[in-house]
Amino acid sequence: MCGIVAYSGTKSATPILLNGLRKLEYRGYDSAGIAIHSDNTIHIYKEEGKVANLIDSIGDYENDAVHQQCHVGIAHTRWATHGPPTKENAHPHGAGFVEPGGSRIALVHNGIIENYRALKARLEAEGKVFLSDTDSEVLSHLIEFYYTDDLAKAISTALKEVQGTFGIACIAKDQPDMLVVARRGSPIVIGLGEDQTIVASDASAIISHTRQAVYLDDNDVAIIRGGKIDIKTLDAKPVQRDTADIDWSEGAAEKGGYEHYMLKEIFEQPTAIRNSIRGRIDLDRGTSVLAGLGLDSREIVDLQRLLIVGCGTSMNAGLVGEYAIEDFAGMLSEVEQAAEFRYRNPIVGSKDIVLAISQSGETADTLAAVREAQEKGALVAGLVNVVGSTIARETGRGIYLHAGPEISVASTKAFTCQVSVLLLIALKFARSRRLSREQGIKIAEEINSLPELVERVLEQNDAIAKIAEDFVKFDNMFYIGRGYLFPVALEGALKIKEISYIHAEAYHAAELKHGPIALLEESMPVVALLNAGPGMEKTLGNVEECRARKSPVLGVISEGDEDARAACDWVIEVPQSSQFIATVTSTVALQLFSYHVARLRGCPIDQPRNLAKSVTVE
Ligand code: G6P
Repeated sequence: MCGIVAYSGTKSATPILLNGLRKLEYRGYDSAGIAIHSDNTIHIYKEEGKVANLIDSIGDYENDAVHQQCHVGIAHTRWATHGPPTKENAHPHGAGFVEPGGSRIALVHNGIIENYRALKARLEAEGKVFLSDTDSEVLSHLIEFYYTDDLAKAISTALKEVQGTFGIACIAKDQPDMLVVARRGSPIVIGLGEDQTIVASDASAIISHTRQAVYLDDNDVAIIRGGKIDIKTLDAKPVQRDTADIDWSEGAAEKGGYEHYMLKEIFEQPTAIRNSIRGRIDLDRGTSVLAGLGLDSREIVDLQRLLIVGCGTSMNAGLVGEYAIEDFAGMLSEVEQAAEFRYRNPIVGSKDIVLAISQSGETADTLAAVREAQEKGALVAGLVNVVGSTIARETGRGIYLHAGPEISVASTKAFTCQVSVLLLIALKFARSRRLSREQGIKIAEEINSLPELVERVLEQNDAIAKIAEDFVKFDNMFYIGRGYLFPVALEGALKIKEISYIHAEAYHAAELKHGPIALLEESMPVVALLNAGPGMEKTLGNVEECRARKSPVLGVISEGDEDARAACDWVIEVPQSSQFIATVTSTVALQLFSYHVARLRGCPIDQPRNLAKSVTVE
């Protein structure tokens, strides 16, 4: 949520900052800005809307002396929290205005300053004038208020008074070679290049410059000057943070010829799933190898419950995990929306393992749930994609997805990789408990076949695009499923909502009768998950009920299932499989369906309105 880039080095900062913003635009895209140090002045440029607007308004920066001579700068792409997405509310925020223009300091901020009202009243009483509605501007004035000649000290003093979360980057007019960054709750990655340091809120803005990075911990303040980095705590105690390698290739974060990142990421799924399960399946023993969990069989047997927490798509993946844990391992499992978990004083203890699922590893509510579970003495593990992210580091144990960078705001490959790994977890827990080697081998083989089955679904892209043409006109939809396919209905409805702005609701197929059926008519299509598995005949019955009320039905069915085909107006066939495998194949079919409906409706697929890739505020 919001993207930060900052630069200190020997090159011109402007193109590097703008390029970084383009890479981070998926984090927020309602306004953007940069502040650069040049000619002994802080120059601030900002614009409403996308980064492209900002670039247009800056003009020919390659031939402009101000930009050629700037070697330190900060940049931001915003996802509005406090105040509408206007130019005034865009970051960077200056403070301490000096003539003939420019500010004493400039700041970019990701996060929320919860006590901003009280701080603002205090600063206004001191005569500070505010130009925006944001909480972030309060922080820039507070830092400027404490600033005499030591920027890092002023920042630490200000941050100690702040309640809430922040990732910040700050520059000062009279410190032309200094950049100070800090974090609490919002990620800050420092990329270590040759003769240059590039800071960002995530690694995708760094990888074209360097693979060596330092991740700040909460309450770290880093002073960057002339390639040297000093990290201190808010109390000015020097600390060392390890250097990590970023293993994402640059191309992985590019569109690679696809019209949208979303389509590219949908098509990457066979490879992404292969990477997620590689080296983790032991076909011979019919189990999985998940060293990162740090649990031996005896410890697994002692566990009473697997509690899964997450948000959005990650939570939907968790639901598939819940079904699989209970189905394979006969172990109690529950999924809880992370925000609910953290606030309702949950009952968890040492016999529970809490699994936090998060693509980004930064979602504020999931992180808070992790901390609450740790507080209550539960074993906590992470299922995370972004290496070095806060949830990955705070859980200390867990499994990385290795899905590669996911740029499209609507999550696709993260979901199918999460489900694949959850199936592996369920297999491991099951083998430690009740599952025989033979049963384990069968499940392991099915999981192993997932990449190939997904390839077969992707082959239907054109046919699915054709079906999508008939759905462009609808404003509302229902998705129904049972058993393992109920979470797929939830994820399918979420996907179409997110990117096509069609209102869609998912129901357990049996629940449709308890109210929603009142809405069925010609203009209310139903997407039914009809892959073979327990309860399929009953869902077919529900489809009949829908059609009797004139609702057109799109069925996702198993290849060759003529009964299901006959019951529907349109069908997408996925390979025959067990129902737990069909969660992945059916989801891929519905991803393509949502993508094409959104494309035909002319929606901004990779960056849907109001959404953000990583929600780092509550
Ligand atoms: C946001 C994104 C969703 C994502 C959710 C959880 O809402 O737009 O696509 O599923 O956050 O994110 P996480 O990174 O924790 O999986």
